[in-house]
Amino acid sequence: MSSESSSDFVDYTRYLEVRVRELELEVAHLRGLIAKYKEELDYYKSQVDKLLAPPLIEATILDLLPDGRAIVKSSTGPILIVHVLDSVDRKQLQPGTRVALNQRGAAIVDVLPQREDPFVRALEVIERPRVRYIDVGGLQNQIAELREVIELPLRKPGVFKAMGIEPPKGVLLYGPPGCGKTLLAKAVAAESRATFIRVVASELAQKFIGEGARIVREVFKLARRKAPSIVLIDEIDAIGAKRLDVGTSGEREIHRTLTQLLAELDGFDPLDNVKVIATTNRIDILDPALLRPGRFDKVIEIPLPDLRGRYEIFKIHTRKMPLSADVDLLELARKTEGATGADIKAICTEAGLHAIRNERIVVTMEDFNAAIRKVLHGRYRPYASQDTYSMPRPWKEERRSSLWM
Ligand SMILES: Nc1ncnc2c1ncn2[C@@H]1O[C@H](COP(=O)(O)OP(=O)(O)OP(=O)(O)O)[C@@H](O)[C@H]1O
Ligand SMILES: [Mg+2]
Repeated sequence: MSSESSSDFVDYTRYLEVRVRELELEVAHLRGLIAKYKEELDYYKSQVDKLLAPPLIEATILDLLPDGRAIVKSSTGPILIVHVLDSVDRKQLQPGTRVALNQRGAAIVDVLPQREDPFVRALEVIERPRVRYIDVGGLQNQIAELREVIELPLRKPGVFKAMGIEPPKGVLLYGPPGCGKTLLAKAVAAESRATFIRVVASELAQKFIGEGARIVREVFKLARRKAPSIVLIDEIDAIGAKRLDVGTSGEREIHRTLTQLLAELDGFDPLDNVKVIATTNRIDILDPALLRPGRFDKVIEIPLPDLRGRYEIFKIHTRKMPLSADVDLLELARKTEGATGADIKAICTEAGLHAIRNERIVVTMEDFNAAIRKVLHGRYRPYASQDTYSMPRPWKEERRSSLWM
């Protein structure tokens, strides 16, 4: 009995030893798992941190103030005066430096690696806009002309060489606001597969005081490097107005910018893969020097859309809208005599909103009628007939006058 119980004891001890070893192994295994899960947890924590961290805003320094703050142009648009965090190396900060602003845009928190043309970058360089010719309503003749003088020479320079003729270097588009000048320029750039550099002339004069001429030079340098390219000088009247008397320093600066532009236009070869498109709604006040041969030698009018144009623009802007069967686009075009392309776009948006407000999922003729009343009626419209757009327009005048201070 006693021997039996002692053998039981031995068995039990061995069992326990084995069990302890098993448990030790299990502990080691579980420790390994803990380490693995900790690692995974850390990884997900870091990802969550990244997701929750507010994005920084990219900006370019325009100037440094004596009190240690900086004037920057943020990539979101506005020009800001911001503080600089102590952790940022001030020696690296110069006009043109790319920096990161914190979310509220209140302070420079980091210096970013530099790109080549900070000033040109501050302008709008669009590699290739997405607008196609089918997004432009009406304007068939204008599109055909632009294709001939811009798209063809850019895509097949050989054709012109073989003919021994020179394509125009620059095209001026003029007409009332909101009728598709900028839109058309973008479409030509996209369809020509060219780099598109857009310079807004009023910004040259306003935002980059003292830098206008230099930016013009940089823009053309960039255009040549990225050729084939199209330079769009939007609202060229801001720098290209007739030179009256060059009195104030602001006027002299604008004059210098224009002179530089003329020099650049003269400087490149018509067969270079660079084309310039300028737009204005004040062709009457442009300096005739701009229109001389070898400069903007092709002038194309972009008028208010006629009935067919309005119908096509309605078709374009309702393309993605769920229309009820009673919507008659031709009827809408008839009712909107004098409306610009931009007006028609606004009418379509407004009609959509009207339908949403009335909890409908299709847009009806009634929505469009309400939208037309809202957008067009009771509004001051000096462009109601085609030949009045060179009349002074209060809002453009206002913008200009601040340039001439
Ligand atoms: N012919 C058109 N076809 C389709 N949409 C148009 C047309 N004209 C204008 N639009 C719409 O109106 C908007 C404004 O047009 P755009 O910017 O091209 O006008 P603009 O002639 O350059 O005016 P501005 O002289 O004020 O610069 C376009 O983005 C487009 O949505
Ligand atoms: Mg425009």
